[in-house]
Amino acid sequence: MAVTQAGGAGRLPAETNEFVGRTAELRQIDGLLLDARLVTLVGPGGVGKTRIVVRAADAAAHRYPDGVWLVELSALRDPGLLPHTVARRLGLAEQSVASQRDALLAHLSDRRLLLILDTCEHLIDAVAELVEAILGAAPEVTVLTSSREPLDVDGETTFPIRPLPVTRRAKSRTRSGPRTSLATANPAAARRRPPRATPSSSSPGAPPPRCPGSR
Ligand SMILES: Nc1ncnc2c1ncn2[C@@H]1O[C@H](COP(=O)(O)OP(=O)(O)O)[C@@H](O)[C@H]1O
Ligand SMILES: [Mg+2]
Repeated sequence: MAVTQAGGAGRLPAETNEFVGRTAELRQIDGLLLDARLVTLVGPGGVGKTRIVVRAADAAAHRYPDGVWLVELSALRDPGLLPHTVARRLGLAEQSVASQRDALLAHLSDRRLLLILDTCEHLIDAVAELVEAILGAAPEVTVLTSSREPLDVDGETTFPIRPLPVTRRAKSRTRSGPRTSLATANPAAARRRPPRATPSSSSPGAPPPRCPGSR
């Protein structure tokens, strides 16, 4: 399946590499979105939650005439700006921070859409409060969130995301050498391996080059 809604307001982010597995999870999440008004994908960082929400949203998009809207929250540090951030993503006019929350709830009240709040764990209380308000004010809105922990809101359905299974090839590599199995199960991780040192880039005995951002 291709993710069709690439880029732009109200669109899902384009995928930049291959998507592996998760067929069963996507089928189950699609079923949950039919019944529940709030679904939270719960799992540790890096397990694949964001990739899954994008796929799940794309699969369900045809059910929401007012679209699917993904708000990525990892860069947001101030919980007080959460309503403002969501409102801006939905294209609402700028207002004072205080009235932006009311404007957001009014906007959503007669919309039939899927709102995705991706990466909620560092704003969990603010997200829980806003989601409760949205569910109360907007009867046709469904919310899909991803987080390391549940929002703990009434009516929330949590769905655990577990690591991708290790492939047979990865297992045999692990037995015969130090390569990590995650890299084989996860092509993106494979691409992030540091480059091998070459004679021109390092001297004999020098440590291998480090990835940007690695410690
Ligand atoms: N099903 C998948 N297929 C391919 N790559 C994946 C898959 N799931 C996760 N990845 C890759 O693993 C990394 C972490 O995934 P991500 O969805 O950002 O995790 P999380 O949102 O749980 O922190 C990303 O580079 C992502 O592209
Ligand atoms: Mg994520």
